[in-house]
Amino acid sequence: MDPSHLIFLAIETTCDETGAAVLEGPRPPATGVPRVLSSVVASQASLHQRFGGVVPEIASRAHVQQVLPMIDEALRRAGITLKDLGMIAVATRPGLVGALVVGLTAAKTLALALDLPLIAVDHLEGHLYACQLANPEQAVYPCVGLVVSGGHTSLYHCRGPLHCEFLGGTMDDAAGEAFDKVASLLSLGYPGGPEIERVARAGDPSAFAFPRSCLHDDRPVFSFSGLKTAVLYALRGPNEERGVVQPSPALVADLAASFQEAVIDVLVAKTRQALEKTGLKRLGVGGGVAANTLFRDRIAAMTRERGVELFIPPLSLCTDNAAMAGIALAKLAAGEVSALDIDVTAGLVRPGRGKERVEEQRPPAACAVES
Ligand code: KG4
Ligand code: ZN
Repeated sequence: MDPSHLIFLAIETTCDETGAAVLEGPRPPATGVPRVLSSVVASQASLHQRFGGVVPEIASRAHVQQVLPMIDEALRRAGITLKDLGMIAVATRPGLVGALVVGLTAAKTLALALDLPLIAVDHLEGHLYACQLANPEQAVYPCVGLVVSGGHTSLYHCRGPLHCEFLGGTMDDAAGEAFDKVASLLSLGYPGGPEIERVARAGDPSAFAFPRSCLHDDRPVFSFSGLKTAVLYALRGPNEERGVVQPSPALVADLAASFQEAVIDVLVAKTRQALEKTGLKRLGVGGGVAANTLFRDRIAAMTRERGVELFIPPLSLCTDNAAMAGIALAKLAAGEVSALDIDVTAGLVRPGRGKERVEEQRPPAACAVES
């Protein structure tokens, strides 16, 4: 093994994917982007499918069952053993508290038993760092960061991997959550994003003029709950008795396509607005919704038109994975080693504003709706 390099294990259990990855990068004080030696994910989608969303208790139990097999598998695929590790990284926020605790407990145990530094990372910073992992030779930062996942739809001004200032986010549902809920309304599977994307291919995106909230609002805010209700009304009518009970495949396809179009219009427009306001010429995108092909095409077209460099990871690094916790190497270089009594933080921590703190939920402020 090259002594100038550090091999480390990363663990991800924030929501419903149990991930483990092995990475290798320059040993601090040298800096650089780590290389992913292996990354494995055990998805719990089939367990949550019949509920149309993640059930926290089921998620925690599944993490308990999967976390050690995933770690073993990541080590095996990387061709290393525990004694080759120089650090343990784990996502400790934000996420489901019971799910987070499983990953953190595994990480603490390994750090203690192997006498290795433990590095707690922020899952959202990790989603954006996936852009850097996928483009190790290029400067991704400073950039506008857009996280579009099942739990978050947020814009950041990222001065560096560990210095992302929260600009604004959703006032109600996250974009991925809206995909999941609308998929459930349309009796499609879970997770809803890939299902909506699949059926939308046969649909007409202009069949329904669904609302585009916050488009003309000056603030970097999003709102998707009105859109979700609009889909419900289009499906059933405002009065349930009038409604379509068994929508035809053609109607489901049109609803899915029109819904997807509305979400993407808003995501692209609000991101363009953030680029205009910050004047930044780079955009990093992360999170499960960034796996959507139409979204990728549209955001690429918008950035091309504006002369902005776009960084969007391959699909496996968009949805939850442990490799993105590779941001831990930057934290180690910055001296941010975690104490072994560190706890998880379920809520959102806004990074990059001096001392970290959990933001309180702001009361939702309405914003204009455009069709
Ligand atoms: O980042 P992620 O794996 O987990 C969270 O941190 O939430 O994102 C999961 C979300 C789910 O809501 C899922 O429906 C959505 O990403 N998603 C998609 C697609 N693939 C996953 N949404 C739209 N189109 C997709 N192809
Ligand atoms: Zn995520």
